[in-house]
Amino acid sequence: MASELIYRGHDEPLHPNSSVYSPKPTKPWSLFRYLLKEQRLIFGFVGFAIASLFFTLKPISGTPSVPSDSSVFVMPEPHRELLPTGFMFQDKGFNGEFRLGSGKVPLGLKRKGLRVVVTGGGGFVGSHLVDRLMARGDSVIVVDNFFTGRKENLMHHFGNPRFELIRHDVVEPILLEVDQIYHLACPASPVHYKFNPTNVVGTLNMLGLAKRVGARFLLTSTSEVYGDPLQHPQVETYWGNVNPIGVRSCYDEGKRTAETLTMDYHRGAGVEVRIARIFNTYGPRMGIDDGRVVSNFVAQALRKEPMTVYGDGKQTRSFQYVSDLVEGLMRLMEGEHVGPFNLGNPGEFTMLELAQVVQETIDPNARIDFRPNTEDDPHKRKPDIGKAKELLGWEPKVALRQGLPLMVSDFRTRIFGDHADGFGAANSGNPSRVASSKSAKA
Ligand SMILES: NC(=O)c1ccc[n+]([C@@H]2O[C@H](COP(=O)([O-])OP(=O)(O)OC[C@H]3O[C@@H](n4cnc5c(N)ncnc54)[C@H](O)[C@@H]3O)[C@@H](O)[C@H]2O)c1
Repeated sequence: MASELIYRGHDEPLHPNSSVYSPKPTKPWSLFRYLLKEQRLIFGFVGFAIASLFFTLKPISGTPSVPSDSSVFVMPEPHRELLPTGFMFQDKGFNGEFRLGSGKVPLGLKRKGLRVVVTGGGGFVGSHLVDRLMARGDSVIVVDNFFTGRKENLMHHFGNPRFELIRHDVVEPILLEVDQIYHLACPASPVHYKFNPTNVVGTLNMLGLAKRVGARFLLTSTSEVYGDPLQHPQVETYWGNVNPIGVRSCYDEGKRTAETLTMDYHRGAGVEVRIARIFNTYGPRMGIDDGRVVSNFVAQALRKEPMTVYGDGKQTRSFQYVSDLVEGLMRLMEGEHVGPFNLGNPGEFTMLELAQVVQETIDPNARIDFRPNTEDDPHKRKPDIGKAKELLGWEPKVALRQGLPLMVSDFRTRIFGDHADGFGAANSGNPSRVASSKSAKA
């Protein structure tokens, strides 16, 4: 009974009449005959030929946007293995830099942007680096505790889906899935680093992250690893002359230890690393009162205060414009060499010469105030950049007299709120407004 309620078709004949449709078995030749009829096969061939011609002449699919100052797209190494075997590269670049030539990318294979972490990306150098990486099409995560950095340096990227900002202190571990790590987080001026030595633990954490996710790691070390150098100019093979217990040691020795850790992770754990030894760098977005000599002089001259010169003013430094440094850091990261590499401008200035350039740029009547020299202040500093020139194809382009006005414009805006000079362009530090120069010192 129950089954009847469910199914009532028992009494109906399965085939009530003989005219019900029953498909005829397919004859093996019918498909072939169909193709031959009405020249269908010929039309098929012609269509195939047109499609092949179209896809052959069509420009490469998914070609990424080209960085503003580069004429050729450099294929980042972590993505090279995405390309099929036999893919054509044109090797025109410096030292192992492969460049995308006339090879064809199969349809649908787009270059993915890299996922890059910039620790300290809210700071002076970091924010300029972030600008370049974003312009290249990468996805950038900034990790910064804003000890010396400023959100204003990054605000123009807020809302961009490729940009993320994490407030985090690198002395605590963090886990992020990324391809590259630019490790800049560290207070860089004497007034700050004495109170927040983050170099060793922060670097250890970031190296641990690089090891865990297989990312390439770049350390921003410093010319301070040479201490008060007994060799001039400084070559990367020079081991330095550093006081291990002085007031600057937390920075100098901290960076030396960071270099040691970096090489240990490279040799011991196979982490891909890069080391840059950065010499004095200046430009827009520098901390106004962070105690570094260029920012000190510029801020003092703008405020009509005397420029403070420590000692007799005859100690020398080299001054590199920030866009040159960022170019060097990116070449180092993308290249094949571990380093360390000196990244600095070999043009050498005494403090008094620098004060003179600031007078020329801001106020010819700006006065100089001499004070006793600070402890362990190096007497001479000048990079030998032969290695970076040869292996990275890099050298600075912006001379001091060209870069300083851009920085002055940014400082003027921030100190006086004067937007007359064009805040955006000056603040971005875009050197396209600066005629490029072969001569480093001007
Ligand atoms: N500018 C130079 O002349 C120069 C020279 C040599 C080396 N460097 C190195 O380059 C890097 C960047 O220097 P900068 O001039 O941009 O300095 P900066 O002070 O402007 O930037 C450092 C950034 O790191 C952040 N930071 C500091 N401690 C942190 C922590 N524990 N966790 C997370 N974030 C932290 C700061 O908030 C800031 O945004 C530093 O590592 C510095 O040692 C700079």
